[in-house]
Amino acid sequence: MRVLTLGGGGREHAAVEAFHRAGSEIYAVMSNANPGIVARAKKYALINEKDVERVRDFALENSVEMAFVGPEAPLEAGIVDALEKAGIPCASPTKAAARIETSKSFMRNLVKDHGIEGNLGFASFDNAKDAEEYLKKVDHEIVVKPIGLTGGKGVKVQGEHLHSFEDTMEYINEIFDNNIGGAGVILEERAVGEEFTQMVFCDGRNIAPMPLVQDHKRAYEGDVGPNTGGMGSYSDADHLLPFVTKKDREDALNILRKIVKAMSKEGCPYRGPMYGQFMLTKNGPKIIEINARFGDPEAMNVLPILEDSFEDICRAMAGGNMNEIVRFRKAATVCKYVVPEGYGTNPVYGKAITVDEDGVSLEGAKVFYANVDMVNGKLVTGRSRSVGIVGIAGSISEAEEKCERALAHVKSEHIFVRHDIGKKELIQRRIDHMKSL
Ligand code: AMP
Ligand code: GLY
Repeated sequence: MRVLTLGGGGREHAAVEAFHRAGSEIYAVMSNANPGIVARAKKYALINEKDVERVRDFALENSVEMAFVGPEAPLEAGIVDALEKAGIPCASPTKAAARIETSKSFMRNLVKDHGIEGNLGFASFDNAKDAEEYLKKVDHEIVVKPIGLTGGKGVKVQGEHLHSFEDTMEYINEIFDNNIGGAGVILEERAVGEEFTQMVFCDGRNIAPMPLVQDHKRAYEGDVGPNTGGMGSYSDADHLLPFVTKKDREDALNILRKIVKAMSKEGCPYRGPMYGQFMLTKNGPKIIEINARFGDPEAMNVLPILEDSFEDICRAMAGGNMNEIVRFRKAATVCKYVVPEGYGTNPVYGKAITVDEDGVSLEGAKVFYANVDMVNGKLVTGRSRSVGIVGIAGSISEAEEKCERALAHVKSEHIFVRHDIGKKELIQRRIDHMKSL
């Protein structure tokens, strides 16, 4: 099939590899020249990913038969609606269905109105004064989130990033003053536990689960520092996680199933990969967020071990006739993102970076390019995450070792990596934390 892929990050490079393995002919649109995607594409265009008309025109000029959208911003801009109107089936949600991610208040209200388990207490505000009144009355710790999109970086947690009433109000005011996320503020009850990601494929009615993954949102080792898009992630050979039971996973899947049903009832059926971020608490999994796409880095954990044809799965998602079982290899994976110095606060960018691809593959690992660009034939960093390295093996610790050996083949003077991801000590801490609850 002639497939349009949209996006130029690590997640999209992983998707392009999966399409390539399935024999698809790839037509790629991205804003940066991702060398991994360029190498696989029959043709590519460097276009602003939110420029709906130009993306649609590129799709029509190349007679693509299906489209796959990686990031959330073009979904919000209505790219799927425009492509479908032009007769191109999409393995991604419409603008209305993508509200499950693009509006955090839409998501919380949907879950509440349909009586679905796993919700947290919440209240949304369109002005700082009302938020302040609420904050004065509330008797538990809260989390402050812009309602709209912020690239995973807009969330601040009381007890971690916000240490007083004043801190919290300062951040709420900052969101309104600078119109961060563009749609107001949601204050949520803080959930305590360990996070996990359950992604599923979805065709509007049915879901097919992917292996569980744990991402690391905090910028620095030991889970401290500002929230980021995700610094790295791991998955286990049994497709669970060391601190998540089958029952916990079933509970999370039931929540996602009910969300999919609710979206159909609301007249915006959901097609495409759906991302559930859960906090496993002493009372079971609670919803942290639902995204309208693959996670990044999580896509780099699951897509390389996908056994079935990604093209077939996408065609079935787009066509509404998906099989509820999708097969993945029984392998563990560890992904660590190489990111620019200052990532999470004030990244330096435009710096030279080199990747010895042969070196990485000799270690048995995979490289996924992300927010890098080719300038005068040389690879340079952008403001966001640069390169994902993924180790795949029989156990998490072997995969972690492979990943570390391969990381030595990525060089730049202005990068950092969270080396603690996937290491025994960090995983043991998570298991102990769950037990202590
Ligand atoms: P989000 O962008 O919504 O995934 O939030 C980023 C990170 O903030 C999450 O991965 C959690 O670590 C934390 N977080 C978000 N919402 C909550 C919540 N209600 N309770 C506790 N932590 C949260
Ligand atoms: N890894 C978090 C996300 O993709 O939203």
